[in-house]
Amino acid sequence: MKKGILGKAFISVGVAAVSITGLLPISAVADEGLVNVYSARKEALIKPLFDRFTEETGIAVNLVTGKADALLKRLEVEGSASPADLFVTVDAGRLHRAKQAGVLQVSNSDVLNKLIPTNLKDSDNYWYGMTQRARTIFYVKGKVDPSQLTTYEALADPKWKGRICVRSSNNIYNQSLVASMIDANGIKATEQWAKGLVANFAKPPAGGDTDQLRAAAAGVCDIAIANTYYFGRLLKSNKEESQAVASKLAAFWPNQDDRGVHMNVSGVGLTKHARNADNAIRLMEFMASDQSQAWYGDENNEYPVVDGAEISATLNELGRFKADDIELSKLGENNRAAVELMDRAGWK
Ligand SMILES: [Fe+2]
Repeated sequence: MKKGILGKAFISVGVAAVSITGLLPISAVADEGLVNVYSARKEALIKPLFDRFTEETGIAVNLVTGKADALLKRLEVEGSASPADLFVTVDAGRLHRAKQAGVLQVSNSDVLNKLIPTNLKDSDNYWYGMTQRARTIFYVKGKVDPSQLTTYEALADPKWKGRICVRSSNNIYNQSLVASMIDANGIKATEQWAKGLVANFAKPPAGGDTDQLRAAAAGVCDIAIANTYYFGRLLKSNKEESQAVASKLAAFWPNQDDRGVHMNVSGVGLTKHARNADNAIRLMEFMASDQSQAWYGDENNEYPVVDGAEISATLNELGRFKADDIELSKLGENNRAAVELMDRAGWK
């Protein structure tokens, strides 16, 4: 494996896979047999899909993977010299950042506009959600009776003092959850809520979602907030220790009597200077196909964005629920207010 120009690993996949020498891993010229992708999703969570696309279309996919913020910066710095045609990342808040940074352009795809529900894409079609995840409440079985749980809002109740684990406020998943609550309840009420939640923390925020689930299973807290696929990974793991963590926990679906569970997406946008836009749009449409949507479910325990696409067995085990159908663009629009509010509330 060679290193990309920012030192990020890159791979060339598909029928045109060749060993490339020189500084630039992928070329910034139009090529009708090619599409270049910058992905903040890990290789394992996207490459098999691209391989299948190549098999079906003969279009090779060059994939550069890296951290979301670094790839976004790279797109900005490269400007019109960027070889990237598509930017793949997680969280609507971050996709919105990419739109605001001016590195994306509108995709004109009737297929995507028909397949992707309005609330799961950018209002101007700069980006489209491709998979969904719920950010929900997990509780320790035997320690919490699910009848004690109702809403995200109710997690600020003093009865949960010292019992809640959640990661830090600099994590975009939490920022987007708070952004959705700002939309539902306003800034003032959400700030009050955040203060109450912080007062109920079992420990200062540290680590990722899986760490919060592990901490709950280990007795550090009784409740953890996490995205569903992290729990799905533990459930499906072939490690006994991970299965043991999952077996101690259960998912609770909050806000079923009002707006529903907070949802977010991983998604993709056509880059502003894409030279292979037709191929790029074809690849996006492929990602929204039924087979791709089902693959994401099986591989990473994510929910489809396309109505009627198959939901994986693992996700079915978690049960069905009412999902918040807020327009995800709003998560991006409320991001700054969310970050400031969490800071004022002392959410580290
Ligand atoms: Fe994640």
